[in-house]
Amino acid sequence: MSAEETLNKLAQEISTCTKCVLHETRKKSVPGDGPANAEILFIGEGPGFHENEQGHPFVGASGKFLDQLLAQAGVTRTEVFICNVVKCRPPGNRDPLPDEIKACDIHLEEQIEIINPSIIVTLGRISMNKFIPAAKITAVHGQMRKVDERFVIPMFHPAAALHQAALKPSILADFVRLPDQLNEARAALGKPLIVAKKKEEINQDKPKQLSLF
Ligand code: URA
Repeated sequence: MSAEETLNKLAQEISTCTKCVLHETRKKSVPGDGPANAEILFIGEGPGFHENEQGHPFVGASGKFLDQLLAQAGVTRTEVFICNVVKCRPPGNRDPLPDEIKACDIHLEEQIEIINPSIIVTLGRISMNKFIPAAKITAVHGQMRKVDERFVIPMFHPAAALHQAALKPSILADFVRLPDQLNEARAALGKPLIVAKKKEEINQDKPKQLSLF
């Protein structure tokens, strides 16, 4: 089976998963989107209202902001894999509970193994805690570190930056560093460097209005 087929099979399994109570209230599970050979894996917290309706990650307000941030890094959604710590919506958008995170971790671990990304970007405290327990996000955001056989960069959750304007310059600066960090990670992992996109190409990828900044 190809990596893509294995990911699709896993998404199928997730759609019928009953390992935690979140399945009782889900409309659609949200396994994640992106190519099976993505170099960068983004991990958010859990699906919200719109994600639960549509079955895709980051399709609401924080998703739109995430698209703008990706554009700042010269990256599009088609190049990266985006998923969450839990694949079903916590009711009322509450934080996922420890036993829900634990139950869903088997799915996340399988995704990481199949995709085998060079870099994992954690979005928010909850996904950061999986890789860098007890760290303070305000102290470590944007800093890449090796965790087992890959690199992890903790970043603020886009929703946090949407709600606290003071965080926006930090999250933007962290995303801008991503292409250089990817090359650094690839060099350390013995993979060939990716030729940086020209500035004009990045500008073309950018959404027309960056009103959120
Ligand atoms: N917030 C998340 O953490 N994940 C989503 O998919 C949407 C909002």
